[in-house]
Formats: sequence, C-alpha cells, structure tokens
Amino acid sequence: LPREGLLAGGPGPLYLKLRQSLEEAILSGKLNHGDALPPERDLADYANVSRVTVRKAVDDLVRDGLLVRRHGSGTFVIRPVSRVEQSLSRLTSFTEDMARRGLNTRAEWLERGLFHPSPDEMMTLGLPADALVARLGRLRIADDMPLAIERACVSAEFLPDPLSVSSSLYAALGRADARPVRAVQRISACNIKDPDAAMLGVAVGAAGLSIERVSYLASGRVVEFTRSLYRGDAYDFVAELTIPE
Ligand code: GLP
Repeated sequence: LPREGLLAGGPGPLYLKLRQSLEEAILSGKLNHGDALPPERDLADYANVSRVTVRKAVDDLVRDGLLVRRHGSGTFVIRPVSRVEQSLSRLTSFTEDMARRGLNTRAEWLERGLFHPSPDEMMTLGLPADALVARLGRLRIADDMPLAIERACVSAEFLPDPLSVSSSLYAALGRADARPVRAVQRISACNIKDPDAAMLGVAVGAAGLSIERVSYLASGRVVEFTRSLYRGDAYDFVAELTIPE
C-alpha cells in the first residue's frame, strides 16, 4: 500500500479518504483476496491518522463487503467477483464452465480417497453397504478466486483410483466411459458458516447457494452425487422457460 496519496484529495473527513484508498487498492488488485490487513495500530501509524479514523474506514469497508473481520485472526480483504452466469439446462463441468470464460481453475483438495458410503450416499447411488465410493472434496478456485466447495461421491466402480483425478472429475469419468448424460440438480439458499466461510473468504453468514447434483449414465444408473456450496455473490443461475405443451 503506497503511503503517498493515501490521504489525497480535497477537503472531507480523513476516514473517507483512507477508505477510498483502501477500496482502490482492493479493486485494482494491489491488495489480494484473502490478504490480511495490517493491525489497526500499524495502519494508523503508517497513514499518520488516529486509530479511530482507521476503525471508521475499516467499518465502512466491512459493511460494504470488501473487508471481513475474523474473530481472533484479523481483518481480511475480499475482492468482489464478477458474477458468473451459469445455465441451468446444460450438463457441464466446473472446469469447462470456467474455461469457456477464459478462467483458469485449480483445486485445493479437502478429501480424495475411497471410503464406505454413508447411508444417503448408499441410497442415492444405489449401492450395497459393503461397496466402496470415491469421495472428492475440493475448494474450487477460478483465477485465484475461491468460488465453491464441492464434495462429489462416485461409485468406486467408475473411479477405482480417485488419486488419478488431477483436476476435472468429468474428464476422469469420460476416460472411464462413465461421463453422465443427464442430471437432476437442486438449488437452495443458505448462509455460509465457518469453516466454509473462511475457505471461501466470505463473512460468516454470507449468502450461499447449496447445490445437489445427482447425475446419470445413459443406462439410468446414478454415477455422481455431489453436494456443493457456491458463493451467492458469484453466481447467477439462468434457465430458459417455455410454455408447457
Ligand atoms: C460442477 C457440478 C458438479 C460436478 C463438477 C465437475 O461443478 N456442480 O456436480 O461434479 O461440475 O467438474 P469438474 O469436471 O471440473 O471436476
């Protein structure tokens, strides 16, 4: 954060000038999503203003969603995302959706391995209790912005080696001749709690979309049961509606 110009501009309250400089630094990418803001005291010394001024500027930015305070660990930058428009009628993968928009995806793995299915995984995938399932839990990141947390569950039959999934689940299923051709998706509103909020870099209680996808092979078998949590500030789901026949 360059010190000169930090409080530039004409007359007006100091906290508003500081607020504006911080806002510009966030929006221009000088401060990155997830960066910790220096402690109030340091920022006050640095900008040569009082701590009250810093607090007011920070309060303002927290209210507008550009900073988030995390209990006991400090104040962090939230870079707003440009919203992604997502069709509700096409069965595509996250990697493909982002690639179409020219964004690079990467994942932070939360879970990747073979497990015995939970009761609802057993029911949804139509598996016996002694079957094995591959679970893939990922924080999904597009151009360094965390957008979603996805937990996919696939019968081990289709994905015997979950570690072979390096980036795209659908690409791996395609290689196993098990890419889904149809899916049913349920979307509901939620408030994002910790630890998900911390991973997604949003405030606790921020709006989220909880999405469940069950997808099928042409044979009618369920191939995937995925529960996802999308950032509500990042997605617009769009569907085309037609008059029923
Ligand atoms: C979307 C869907 C998930 C699906 C995933 C596959 O995000 N909500 O249900 O598992 O795409 O994406 P990829 O092939 O990039 O892993």
